[in-house]
Amino acid sequence: MAEKRITGHFDDAWLQVDKTDDPGFFVRFLDASRVRSLAFARQNPAMAFAHLALEPGLSVLDCGCGTGDILAIIAGLIAPGEACGGELSDTMLQEARRRVAAGGVTEAANLHFQSMDVQALPFPDQSFDRVLASQLLVHVPDPRGALQEMCRVTKSNGRVAIADMDWDSLLIGCGNKELGRRFTQLFADGVRNGLVVREYAGWLRAKGFSNVQIVPQPMVFESWTFVRDWIVAPALPAFVANGSMTAAEASALVEELSNRNENGQFFAASTLYTVTGQRG
Ligand SMILES: C[S@@+](CC[C@H](N)C(=O)[O-])C[C@H]1O[C@@H](n2cnc3c(N)ncnc32)[C@H](O)[C@@H]1O
Repeated sequence: MAEKRITGHFDDAWLQVDKTDDPGFFVRFLDASRVRSLAFARQNPAMAFAHLALEPGLSVLDCGCGTGDILAIIAGLIAPGEACGGELSDTMLQEARRRVAAGGVTEAANLHFQSMDVQALPFPDQSFDRVLASQLLVHVPDPRGALQEMCRVTKSNGRVAIADMDWDSLLIGCGNKELGRRFTQLFADGVRNGLVVREYAGWLRAKGFSNVQIVPQPMVFESWTFVRDWIVAPALPAFVANGSMTAAEASALVEELSNRNENGQFFAASTLYTVTGQRG
């Protein structure tokens, strides 16, 4: 049987970036969707990473580090402490290493990337001071097992920080309320663990972590082009194919959102939550 062709960025595509028709899609997706947060982190690292209480000498593991841009900033803040980026995808690992090399260092003295699965981390217990995962656990088959692995490799007094979108918080302005809601709910349900962010605080407390904090960050998608290219267009064909929407409804949705944009009425938003906890 022919292998299922996965081209969107939801469903299980993030688990198999290297096997998709166009792995570069996922690198471009991260670049397009992280522009603002990356610029903010570069300009205001103290604010962007306040929840991590970073200081020179600490060690940091970023699980599912993608293109490694955030970890590269962190590496500068914790040097000479070790910054390790873990990835399942060779495409991402190559891209992360290429970016570090383009900055003039092949792998910076305190920054390196290695192949790993967050659900079975290749490290002994209590290896890192900070263990991060951003927009990763919504995709993995066993998010609680992954979180337990992250807790396991965190040192005593160290912190875990997990950031994810609650995909049920995706909102779009649409005159046809039912169609707009149907799209956002289908999208949320198309992400494997689209609502799992609601569980992290409880899971951390159950592991005995203290100072568990939940910080919401509203995200407004100002650009219709971004929402069209990275959220609506990759998702609609799947909804039409599985009968959740007719082709006419899909076209009507795109047309309406496009018209709203031309009239200055485009609105789309969602909420990212960062959950942190400290190991006793
Ligand atoms: C949505 S991206 C997030 C990347 C980065 N953390 C960010 O926020 O920009 C998810 C990343 O996790 C990687 N990934 C997927 N499953 C993984 C697993 N089981 N273990 C480690 N990384 C994984 C993917 O290859 C992808 O690069």
